[in-house]
Amino acid sequence: MRENSARIADRAGRPIEVVAVAARDRSRDRGIDLSGLRWHDDAVTLAADPDVDVVVELIGGSEGTARQLVTNTLRNGKAVVTANKALIALHGAELSALSSAHEAPLLFEAAVAGGVPAIKLVREGLAGDRLLRVGGILNGTCNYILTEMRNTGRAFSDVLSEAKALGYAEADPTTDIDGWDAAHKLAILAALSFGRPLAFDSLHVEGISRISPADLHFAQELGYRIKLLGLAREVQDGIEAWMRPCLVPIASPIANVEGVFNALSYEGAFAGSQMIEGRGAGAGPTAIAVMADLIDLARGSRLPVWGVSTPANRVECVPRGTLTGEYYLRVTVQDQPGVIADIAIILRDCGVSLRGMVQHANDKTPNGTVPLALVTHQTDEHAMLVTIQRIAALDSVVNEPMMLRIEAG
Ligand SMILES: NC(=O)c1ccc[n+]([C@@H]2O[C@H](COP(=O)([O-])OP(=O)(O)OC[C@H]3O[C@@H](n4cnc5c(N)ncnc54)[C@H](OP(=O)(O)O)[C@@H]3O)[C@@H](O)[C@H]2O)c1
Repeated sequence: MRENSARIADRAGRPIEVVAVAARDRSRDRGIDLSGLRWHDDAVTLAADPDVDVVVELIGGSEGTARQLVTNTLRNGKAVVTANKALIALHGAELSALSSAHEAPLLFEAAVAGGVPAIKLVREGLAGDRLLRVGGILNGTCNYILTEMRNTGRAFSDVLSEAKALGYAEADPTTDIDGWDAAHKLAILAALSFGRPLAFDSLHVEGISRISPADLHFAQELGYRIKLLGLAREVQDGIEAWMRPCLVPIASPIANVEGVFNALSYEGAFAGSQMIEGRGAGAGPTAIAVMADLIDLARGSRLPVWGVSTPANRVECVPRGTLTGEYYLRVTVQDQPGVIADIAIILRDCGVSLRGMVQHANDKTPNGTVPLALVTHQTDEHAMLVTIQRIAALDSVVNEPMMLRIEAG
């Protein structure tokens, strides 16, 4: 804000000034001069500070101080800008109700894909469209790990350690690698796209920790890349939404979003499909997203939280078993006669039709196991779940089979 203050004031139509701040540790050197700013030992008291028009919440976490601060600020009729995806994904419905009741704007551009203007695109740019599908690559840490694993052939744990050392992964990376961070963002995008908040616990979420170099290699050979993909679309019975690693065709735009980059992809009934890509985290991109919200407020713009004046009730995602699609299966087997026949019988009994299979004799390990990759035609996910359960129970199968969805990208 300080470095770009003249331009910001010009764009906002008036200066935007920081008057008060809070953090945990007052003595910490933050590399900026905080003199002249009122310090609040308790962040929640910012909500009642008479000089504050807008509270910018960048604490994080769906509960505790962040939730209290945002709730109290809205109750006091003041605007909130936040980067807190967990808070909005889990408590967005209640906060949206508070925002309407107290006519207090709630903006959260930085909560989804950092510097990529994902929320503006969906809530404003596509406001005249009927969105059929929204999603994308929403976690830079996972995308970096999968890209590095594919480029170097190294194992997940090895690349994760390197990502931590380079600052691309948190010391505790669980929220990222287990898919929750990206799932929070997807839930927000889905709510904006379909005008109703999602029941977050009905979202199917899978992370990337079980992806092996063999999966990435097989995918490449079959003409795909593996990406942690989120997708939400309107289906006949409601909303399909999930966050999971998927195979996407190498030639698709989403397959070529690499490293720490994020991408938002959507399909509108009128606008067609499009993808935008950029930096999803980091100080600069995140600050720019926060500033976009502050400038909107300074300009007097008043946007409904979910982009509609009458949001529908919270909606459950359709059950996973009802999804249909093509699937990739990796099964590690004892290299012995009859194994393929056993698997083929299970596939036949479950009504799953195979489109292809890959096996390499030189992938055989010293203990006699070999990975097999199978690709199915369109089938329903319930049949696939039964299939992998039965395959896993075969004596010749070692380790839990890996099942990934194949998406068009
Ligand atoms: N990092 C990114 O690139 C990024 C991108 C998009 C969105 N976000 C979101 O932004 C939020 C913050 O993430 P971050 O990466 O910036 O986290 P962070 O580096 O841990 O910063 C959190 C800040 O909140 C302060 N804080 C923590 N607990 C507090 C409390 N009880 N009272 C007052 N202040 C408190 C900390 O104070 P001290 O400095 O004194 O410890 C610190 O300044 C999260 O919701 C995250 O999802 C982050």
